[in-house]
Amino acid sequence: MRIYFLAATLSMLLVAPADPQVGGGKPDPVPRAKMRSQPRPEPVAKTRLLMLGINLPNFRGIEERLGQSPRGDSWDIIQGQALLIAENGNLLMLRPPRNDKEDTWLERAADLRAAATRLARAAVDQDYARSRDDLIALANVCNHCHKSFQVDVRISAFGEQSGVPAVPAPPRPPAVPKPPPPPRPPQPPGDRP
Ligand code: HEC
Repeated sequence: MRIYFLAATLSMLLVAPADPQVGGGKPDPVPRAKMRSQPRPEPVAKTRLLMLGINLPNFRGIEERLGQSPRGDSWDIIQGQALLIAENGNLLMLRPPRNDKEDTWLERAADLRAAATRLARAAVDQDYARSRDDLIALANVCNHCHKSFQVDVRISAFGEQSGVPAVPAPPRPPAVPKPPPPPRPPQPPGDRP
């Protein structure tokens, strides 16, 4: 009985009128039950997959488009790709290491967001030279975090040498299926049981 009553009260709280602010006046504090029921962002991917799925492909996509002066839609795509990297900074902030390096992580992730946003602005201005400089600056931000967290991955833009071994390219799937092995030469008779 008691449990039933509690459940009924809770569900009444959960379905309480949503927005009492309409019409002006001081906003009411959000009811606790409502706050608890709201979905929140939570990490679902491993950091490594955010790197391989978002940071690296978008970085390389921008680099390729900036190989020569982009035209037309290309600037919009560069802007979108840069902003995806910037948004990834937000995603990285959801998964800092829970130790004394937490603050460093959050700072590096914020630097990523800032550097990628700067690049997106250069793309809005269709400024070729600035976009290239900003991509190189972005690579430094990637590397700064990798260095802070002992990740042995070095990002560089436009093949620029930084004195440190370049990142090995990620393995690519073979473009064509492997040819079948050549037929074995005929065995001399009596060689096998
Ligand atoms: C906030 C820190 C941080 C920033 C900023 C960051 N990375 Fe990473 N990156 C990591 C960590 C940590 C790993 C290792 C993940 C693992 O293996 O678990 C990693 C790994 C990688 C890898 C290797 C993935 C693999 O295992 O094959 C690549 C590639 C990569 N990052 C690219 C980038 C690029 C490109 C940028 C910038 C656009 C960037 N990262 C910015 C933290 C960061």
